[in-house]
Amino acid sequence: MDDGWLRRALAQKRDGAALDDATWDRIVDGYVKGEIDDAPVAALAMACTIRGMADAEIFALTGAMVRSGDTIVFPAGRIVVDKHSSGGVGDTVSLVAVPLVAACGVPVAKLSGRALGHTGGTLDKLEAIPGVRTDLEPAAFVAQVEAIGCAIAAQSERLVPADQKLYALRDRTATVPSVGLIAASIVSKKIAGGAGAIVFDVKAGRGAFMHTIAEARVLAETLVRLAAAFGRRASAVISDMEEPLGAAVGSGIEAVEARDFLRGDERDPRLSEAVFAVVHEMLRVGGIAEREIETRALDTLQSGAAYERFAQLVRAQGGSPGALDRIAAHPHRATATAARGGVVTAIDAAAIGELARDATVADGPFAGIRILARVGAPVRAGEALAECAGPSLDPFAVARAFTIGVQAPPARNLVEAVVRDELPAAVELRR
Ligand code: URA
Ligand code: CA
Repeated sequence: MDDGWLRRALAQKRDGAALDDATWDRIVDGYVKGEIDDAPVAALAMACTIRGMADAEIFALTGAMVRSGDTIVFPAGRIVVDKHSSGGVGDTVSLVAVPLVAACGVPVAKLSGRALGHTGGTLDKLEAIPGVRTDLEPAAFVAQVEAIGCAIAAQSERLVPADQKLYALRDRTATVPSVGLIAASIVSKKIAGGAGAIVFDVKAGRGAFMHTIAEARVLAETLVRLAAAFGRRASAVISDMEEPLGAAVGSGIEAVEARDFLRGDERDPRLSEAVFAVVHEMLRVGGIAEREIETRALDTLQSGAAYERFAQLVRAQGGSPGALDRIAAHPHRATATAARGGVVTAIDAAAIGELARDATVADGPFAGIRILARVGAPVRAGEALAECAGPSLDPFAVARAFTIGVQAPPARNLVEAVVRDELPAAVELRR
């Protein structure tokens, strides 16, 4: 095969020029079919990572990726919302927001991923509930959203096969952290999954992909512009991942935390703030008038309707009767304590995530860590920092993820900014 066109395209991209739509199409198509091998695509990914990508290129790449596989279609006239998180530790927002938004009258069709590295996966959390399945066929996924207003399912391998191949190549070639490639990867999967409106929860901090707020902001704005270019209402919430989001970190224990939150037994204030920011945007892009959003969300939570919707989702996806009420953290408990007195100045979210994930592998899905002392909290020597559920967890290793100093660090906003699709340009609402 004469691939002079491909070599010339790579040279163009290497030198900083943008590739046209037809070239992106031809590359994605050829790569998925196996007519183009890894070498030129790896070189292209590196050129994109170093040189950046124009909006038109990201749009062309995303479209070509969507066309590489099947797409899910919801009945005409139904705007279903999806929510994407860029990955975090103790990020239980989806399990709470999906049923809450559905119970507010906006259908949610959530495609989720599994745990990756130190970050948790919504599918693992949901599947910890006995009987629950997430491998829904597209027809069953659509039917469940029609019937009860929400579903949480695994991304099928038939959706965006180009992303699976490209992501694996990027992982091997140090080309994951390219804003354009990340945006195309995320948005192509949401479009193929049938989302009519999308909310992105972009994390910033040590526990996230994007370490600084400035980097997170660039990704958030790119995601919103890209979704809008496909005619999708969109918002991005930029939120802090310097320390774990909710109190619970694990898989099943995060489902317990979501249940307790929805039922009103216990609501971690940080998780609550993140949930309400994301829910607000999901209702907005789902077409609820701004002035109605807050009361509708609060009423739906307080009335128990959101909890009931979560129970319905669990039953619809195979959960055993009573399973949701019975789940509880692993009964083996130990306490991680402060070696000295002072103030918690940092909690290494990545380390907590890794320890919790190892514990779920060793001790089962309901093992994990419950954060008791947050950044900024004063602690005495010997005071509890975290509760460890599961015999394999070493409380001393958990305690080492906490830095104790003499002075509280400057307070960080949990929700740093919200980027919306309001025309003509995406505007940012600083809080
Ligand atoms: N998540 C994705 O789905 N794709 C990326 O490229 C990065 C994070
Ligand atoms: Ca299961």
